[in-house]
Amino acid sequence: MLTLNKLEFSYGTIQTLHGISAQMLPGRVTCVIGRNGVGKTTLLKVIMGILRSSSGSIQLPHVDVTSFAANRRAREGIALVPQGRQIFPKLSVADNLRVGLEASRPRIRQVPQDVYDLFPILWDNRQRPGGNLSGGMQQQLAIARALVSNPRVLLLDEPTEGIQPNIIQQIGEVLRELVTERNMTVVLVEQYLDFVREFGHDFYIMNRGQITADGETSDLTEELISNYLSV
Ligand SMILES: Nc1ncnc2c1ncn2[C@@H]1O[C@H](COP(=O)(O)OP(=O)(O)O)[C@@H](O)[C@H]1O
Ligand SMILES: [Mg+2]
Repeated sequence: MLTLNKLEFSYGTIQTLHGISAQMLPGRVTCVIGRNGVGKTTLLKVIMGILRSSSGSIQLPHVDVTSFAANRRAREGIALVPQGRQIFPKLSVADNLRVGLEASRPRIRQVPQDVYDLFPILWDNRQRPGGNLSGGMQQQLAIARALVSNPRVLLLDEPTEGIQPNIIQQIGEVLRELVTERNMTVVLVEQYLDFVREFGHDFYIMNRGQITADGETSDLTEELISNYLSV
């Protein structure tokens, strides 16, 4: 479980997160949805510790990580798949995955085979430079890199953005496996609502740095969507 309590964040003088409180449960995909610019990416960076909240707290079941830097949060089991993937284009697939070993606890030296088992296409292409892969495969690589350390909490920032439909489906199936087989806590920032409905369990809607609605994805009404999501 991940518990956020009254998180506040400002870029300089511009306040971007206003008292964000939420609970993300293990074994469930919790979706954070909202229009562009409402603060979704900022929230994930604050959870990861790349940005530091000015007040509020972030708790895992046995530890309050609010004061921890990003690398220590990673050792506590939080991993982020950043928006835009941010893989290393000149490194091979295998070396991109080895970067993920840095966060492992206890320290492991080899990329676990189960990561390749989740994404067999990465095994088949393990010697290719990351930059030569299709966008969909790069996204799979970014997710796999985050999984190398076997996190308890996986944060994903718009993983379906610009990706071909068959790979979107494969990514959804992997998320489903992570929550059902490994009881992981998955936090999915996503604007693609069909994906949210198919693979998400709970949702929080963000608007201007605040949570304006929450519930189970089966209760995402047309009214909520037209108020907070349609352009
Ligand atoms: N590095 C930054 N410096 C200043 N403002 C930023 C920075 N990054 C994002 N913002 C602003 O913060 C707000 C929220 O951005 P972001 O978290 O990226 O939203 P979302 O992911 O929901 O599209 C936007 O108004 C954006 O322009
Ligand atoms: Mg974003």
